[in-house]
Amino acid sequence: MLRTDFALPEANLTDLAIPAKPALVDPFGRAIRYLRVSVTDRCDFRCVYCMAEDMAFLPKRDLLTLEELDRLCSAFMLRGTKKLRLTGGEPLMRRDVMTLFRRLSRHLRSGALDELTLTTNGSQLAKYAKELVDCGVRRVNVSVDTLDAAKFRLLTRRGDLALVLEGIDAAQDAGLAVKINAVALRHVNEDEFIPLTEWAHERGMDITFIEVMPLGEIDGQRVDQYIPLTQVTGNLAERFTLEPVAYATGGPARYMRAQETGGRIGFITPLTHNFCESCNRVRVTCTGTLFMCLGQEDAADLRAPLRASEGDELLHQAIEAAIARKPKGHDFIIDRATQMPAVSRHMSMTGG
Ligand code: 5AD
Ligand code: SF4
Repeated sequence: MLRTDFALPEANLTDLAIPAKPALVDPFGRAIRYLRVSVTDRCDFRCVYCMAEDMAFLPKRDLLTLEELDRLCSAFMLRGTKKLRLTGGEPLMRRDVMTLFRRLSRHLRSGALDELTLTTNGSQLAKYAKELVDCGVRRVNVSVDTLDAAKFRLLTRRGDLALVLEGIDAAQDAGLAVKINAVALRHVNEDEFIPLTEWAHERGMDITFIEVMPLGEIDGQRVDQYIPLTQVTGNLAERFTLEPVAYATGGPARYMRAQETGGRIGFITPLTHNFCESCNRVRVTCTGTLFMCLGQEDAADLRAPLRASEGDELLHQAIEAAIARKPKGHDFIIDRATQMPAVSRHMSMTGG
């Protein structure tokens, strides 16, 4: 049974605006300000670059409860985390996830947290957009790799584009800023970079293109999917005049502005341009495993210290020890010679 009654000690709730413990800084001097938490590994889609058709999901009992997720996020905020993103899998598939958003929103009110946000596939947004706004969420990232409904169904192996578009409408109507994420995929959406950008900008949305990353076994070959984003920029430059802009969201994207539309285009290029030197983030899975780097296997278990006592001392010790091992960076390679994924876990475990 998931607990939703949240009998948290008051000490956890107060004074988070002034961290009582030293902020987390890794061995390379990078302050950890951004936490991404995957609240479920499940998803109602099976995107071909993300999952295998036939995925084995975690048994529910292995998941952190919503109360434990709240304790964990709060511990990070006490140590300087200012931005929190809930991801998945599909975060809105987690039962009672709104209870967690509601609890976490107290940190926005106290000033401990600057931003509470989520990455979603949009399929449940129509249902939750208003409530998310009530919980202090101001921006959401929605993944849309194609605007062709038939292609969308093939790519997600079951998704309904119309439902996602309704979700985006609802989000914008509710006042959420929407950013579109599109993974650049050879032979799949190569012909859509320009139309996707035009569509996003017409609707006042930023769009970010992402290089496909070698995470987890999928049913196809990564090398067949991969397009370097330099090729995407080249393609976009045929239609738009692109100028670099200094805009930064705390994430790894670098932004350009399309003069013709005035809209922004982000590029996340883990393979062609390593952005690790400015990495300010770590990721936690829904079972409480902390990954210090998206592209490395090393991890720390936070579930055991969470469950070992009611207080958070052991949790803080485990977090400190883990951050002290944060690696300098990832070393993703996609080529014919490298057939293995860089890491064995799927993106749905840690979120993007
Ligand atoms: N490489 C790049 N992006 C991925 N995503 C999921 N799996 C991968 C992968 N292997 C994207 C999703 C979503 C974001 C969270 O990450 O499409 O936009
Ligand atoms: Fe689900 Fe996102 Fe993975 Fe697609 S990319 S299967 S929407 S978690």
